[in-house]
Amino acid sequence: MVKKAFIFDLDGVIVDTAKFHFIAWQRLAASLDINFTEEENEQLKGVSRVNSLKKILEWGKKEISPEVFQQKMDQKNEEYLDLIKSLSTKDIMPGVHDFLLNLKKQELPIALGSASKNARPILQKLGILDLFEVIVDGTDVTKAKPDPEVFLSACQQLNYTAQDSIVFEDSVAGVQAANTAGMISIGLGEENILHEADEVFTHFTDMPQDYINTLLSQKK
Ligand code: BG6
Ligand code: MG
Repeated sequence: MVKKAFIFDLDGVIVDTAKFHFIAWQRLAASLDINFTEEENEQLKGVSRVNSLKKILEWGKKEISPEVFQQKMDQKNEEYLDLIKSLSTKDIMPGVHDFLLNLKKQELPIALGSASKNARPILQKLGILDLFEVIVDGTDVTKAKPDPEVFLSACQQLNYTAQDSIVFEDSVAGVQAANTAGMISIGLGEENILHEADEVFTHFTDMPQDYINTLLSQKK
């Protein structure tokens, strides 16, 4: 059987940091007198920090100078880092650690494909940094999801083709990026939101026992 590359998004897939991004953006929006809803937040999942702020300003019909823009980005990140300062192994999403260990046992390659510039320190806090052979994060890419650059770079560094790569994603932008790359897309979250994914699970714990083998024989 052909081996496949397993590429994971970070926020909302490996760890539930999506809620902290939401809180930090909501506080930031409030500081600009912008009302920011959970529905709008859904559209920011997987989206880079700079593009997220651009969208919030667009929705709130606000314009700010480049200096204030930079200040607000820094302010959001400080809030976010404060919210995640006590992250630890116990914050890994249900079933993820076992799934990663099973991949290791089968000598299957693992990569991270995240828009976050905080990815490495987060994986370190979770105690799973060493499980990743390749890490592509927000500091490496120039084009943000839904552009497939982050996932294509991950599979190229692992020496796998896109057709032999599987992406785990909680965001619409990320699922679209995987699909555009020609990779198998597995959504983690709600079926009605992630309906473009090849398959959707609420959690890793909902996957069938031998799901890794099912994925190994699956074609896009
Ligand atoms: C993505 C998150 O993984 O990373 C987004 O889904 C976030 O919500 C983006 O804005 C950038 O993250 P960071 O940590 O660089 O601000
Ligand atoms: Mg995500």
